[in-house]
Amino acid sequence: MEEVKLGILGMGTVASGLINIIEFNNSKLIENINKSLIISKVLVKNPDKKRNVNLDSGVYTSEAYEVINDRDVHIIVELIGGIHPAYEYIKAALNNKKHVVTANKALIATHGQELESLAVKNKVKLMYEASVAGGIPIINTISENLAANDFEQIIGIINGTTNYILTQMTDCGLEYDYAVKEAQRLGFAEADPSSDVEGDDAAYKISILATVAFGQRINIKDIPKEGITKISKEDIKYAKELGYNIKLLASAIKKNNEIELSVHPAFVPQDHPLSTVKNEFNAVFLRGNAVGELMFYGRGAGSLPTGSAVLGDIISIIKNCKIEEQSSNNSIKIVNKAYKPYYIRFEVIDKPGVLGKIANIFGENNISLASVVQRQKNGNDTAPLVFITHEVERKNIDAALEKIKNFKYVTNIASIIMVENFK
Ligand SMILES: NC(=O)c1ccc[n+]([C@@H]2O[C@H](COP(=O)([O-])OP(=O)(O)OC[C@H]3O[C@@H](n4cnc5c(N)ncnc54)[C@H](OP(=O)(O)O)[C@@H]3O)[C@@H](O)[C@H]2O)c1
Repeated sequence: MEEVKLGILGMGTVASGLINIIEFNNSKLIENINKSLIISKVLVKNPDKKRNVNLDSGVYTSEAYEVINDRDVHIIVELIGGIHPAYEYIKAALNNKKHVVTANKALIATHGQELESLAVKNKVKLMYEASVAGGIPIINTISENLAANDFEQIIGIINGTTNYILTQMTDCGLEYDYAVKEAQRLGFAEADPSSDVEGDDAAYKISILATVAFGQRINIKDIPKEGITKISKEDIKYAKELGYNIKLLASAIKKNNEIELSVHPAFVPQDHPLSTVKNEFNAVFLRGNAVGELMFYGRGAGSLPTGSAVLGDIISIIKNCKIEEQSSNNSIKIVNKAYKPYYIRFEVIDKPGVLGKIANIFGENNISLASVVQRQKNGNDTAPLVFITHEVERKNIDAALEKIKNFKYVTNIASIIMVENFK
């Protein structure tokens, strides 16, 4: 039987999942591709480290170019992560006319276009299904199965760490800091969780999804992002009372020839399917002009789910190696003018006329109000005052808040969170 030889860069969480799947699903794989998969060489930092996979110790090396320049290797699987030296290794592999599979979102979001062109030039494939939403097959689904559609909306919960933290705050009443510690204890958050909680990870992923869906390379700098570090138990409580759950959404909305991209915490109506996505799970909700609404749900990380996506790309290369140049549609404008409702929470001194004065300033800025919640005083003589607006551009909200912040009875503008109405 013909052999396909793999050179694997890295043997950590994802690579060991890949090896384990190849081992326990081997007979099904052989039946499917009619070839046998051979792990020729594996790059690691430390070849002597004990590993949780059934591989001959002779396959390990710490010399990257022993793998990348091996003439017998057909496919390079990059699973070391980070931008450097993964970028240099993938470039060298493509120039050596080897197909490349990677799970590296940071690299694809930053250098994807250049690497894709290099793959086309060398008539090989570069595939990266595992770079977004782990086990959920979303990239190849958008680019192949749903290729008939013009996409209007892609809205995802695509960072499992923040979804776990927000779920624990919502369902178990945990404070933010405690929920982060729990996520770290269970392995859902890194020791330094900043890339997740500040929204960078989700921004990388939505830039990849939008690039695939809209055929236009999205620069990560064009994506306004806000993480979840400012979300308080107070906001979670009001969201629940008003019929919402707070989620970190990554969205790409296309209207006419304009795309609006963002990563932001949002109030999501409790009866929307995205609201029911809990803990470390991910989901991508999309609307295509032919297919209508679809939602994909599953594990966005982990050894086996991510290994499954990597192996899917390897199988796809083996079964179908036809190379096509990706067209780039540069006629679409990237804009930042979402027209949405907002939740705004103030702490105010409890005096007559305060609510009226704030409402007047909102009116002067063309902001109309959908609801107002006024509560009893806190211990310190201030009282929470919560507004939900009708749809408005964020710049109107910012202009109104610029004036309201100087109003002596407003002690704190505690939160401003978009309400996602899926329009
Ligand atoms: N973990 C997930 O659930 C998940 C989900 C989706 C996507 N991803 C992506 O998948 C990729 C791999 O993630 P992972 O979690 O599997 O990483 P990991 O567990 O940290 O493993 C990284 C592996 O790469 C090796 N390595 C790192 N830098 C190296 C270098 N400069 N030279 C040689 N070897 C090097 C390490 O060698 P040693 O073992 O010798 O230290 C280790 O085996 C990343 O791009 C990540 O963003 C991960």
